[in-house]
Amino acid sequence: MLSEKLDLKTIFAVHFLAILMNMPVSGFSKKSKAEKIQWLAENYLQNSTSSIALLKSYWNSDPSVQQLHDDFIENSLSNYYLPFGVAPNFLINGKIYALPMVTEESSVVAAASNAAKFWLERGGFKAEVISTEKNGQIHFNFFGEEEALQDFFDYVRPKLKKSIHRLEKNMKTRGGGLEELSLVDKSHILEGYFYVHATFDTLDAMGANFINSCLEQMAIVFEEEAKDFEPFQKDGNYPEVVMSILSNYVPECLVRAEVSCRVEELTTKHHDGNQFAQKFIRAIDIAKTETRRAVTHNKGIMNGVDAVVLATGNDFRAVEAGVHAYAGRNSYYGSLTHAKIENEVFIFWIELPIAIGTIGGLTSLHPLSKVALEILQNPNAKELMKIMAVAGLAQNFAAIRSLVTTGIQKGHMKMHLMNILNQLHASKEEKERAMDHFLKNTISHSAVENFLKKRN
Ligand code: MEV
Repeated sequence: MLSEKLDLKTIFAVHFLAILMNMPVSGFSKKSKAEKIQWLAENYLQNSTSSIALLKSYWNSDPSVQQLHDDFIENSLSNYYLPFGVAPNFLINGKIYALPMVTEESSVVAAASNAAKFWLERGGFKAEVISTEKNGQIHFNFFGEEEALQDFFDYVRPKLKKSIHRLEKNMKTRGGGLEELSLVDKSHILEGYFYVHATFDTLDAMGANFINSCLEQMAIVFEEEAKDFEPFQKDGNYPEVVMSILSNYVPECLVRAEVSCRVEELTTKHHDGNQFAQKFIRAIDIAKTETRRAVTHNKGIMNGVDAVVLATGNDFRAVEAGVHAYAGRNSYYGSLTHAKIENEVFIFWIELPIAIGTIGGLTSLHPLSKVALEILQNPNAKELMKIMAVAGLAQNFAAIRSLVTTGIQKGHMKMHLMNILNQLHASKEEKERAMDHFLKNTISHSAVENFLKKRN
């Protein structure tokens, strides 16, 4: 009993001390950047001058560029760099592209470049956009007569469409806007749950803000009109909007990319084409069968897709969420790529839902996204969808090729060597010697550490 009390006392004391050390802060967002850094230094960084200096050293030397970045988010203190690289030689639908890629993972750009080169000599990538429909929902509760709800929806649909005329004026003049509205009954899964499903064409914009504004406006009209709808008044059951938001699940915004060549063209000095193709297809089949493999397989695909998504200022979380949901659409989670041999021809392809934009959002705000789009010769959204799908396919090709031949670590560790050397503060000369030494020796953190120790 006594020890229990003591324990409680100790717990309270520790808790109290912790509160004293890191006091909650109010009005933080109103502080200036210098004040925020000062507060952080005092409360969390033991007034470390080097941490403060480091944060400041990442500021852009041009104050207007820095201000632009600061304005992207709240409470911005500094910038967080990721490498911006390029993978050249991507032959896509007869045109050669250099793909801008933003990623921290050592081997991603190298793998993309290798795959691009490999397929450049075998006809390149073919890509096509299958569909471009985006969607959003007004989720609502309704516990009354379903027939009355259907009647209300038929009555209110034109009013909902009309209510967003002002919002979609610009989009409409360019040929996009709201497409359809339908009523979806999910009450068999969740009692009283229904939604209005809205489909949109947002052309070259990702369209998240546009879709959400339209949905929220229609939701207001939906509830207002419901109040005056007589059949609802009879039993006092009115639809009640819970929320209105776009969906990042976009299986109707699909792109397909493919490579193919005769099986014998897969022969290299390291492997026989037919054996390679068989093993490659087996690897894809495994990813189609086993979730544990499929997730890693698809992660590798997204290494390529995300790098281009990030470089072009698009929302990689949205793309990631949609892609993985798509991979699980058949009630199991499987590979996003497919491969087969048909009439001695090896065919490898991918189908991805990708909702991105080339105008609006960060794409036109971040100076480097603008450069990335320029590198891609200012594509429209459909072209960019194709490029991203190709980046995913190429990345997956490179990964599977390594996995079924040399193993992944050889290439990966070669690229990672420089990171290890930097971590161990190797000098320029040590780096050169290490690069030479590890051409013939297995790379690991401890092997590099030992190498540096022995040399000193
Ligand atoms: C590593 O980031 C990605 C891979 O694991 C993908 C794969 O296993 O297919 C190499």
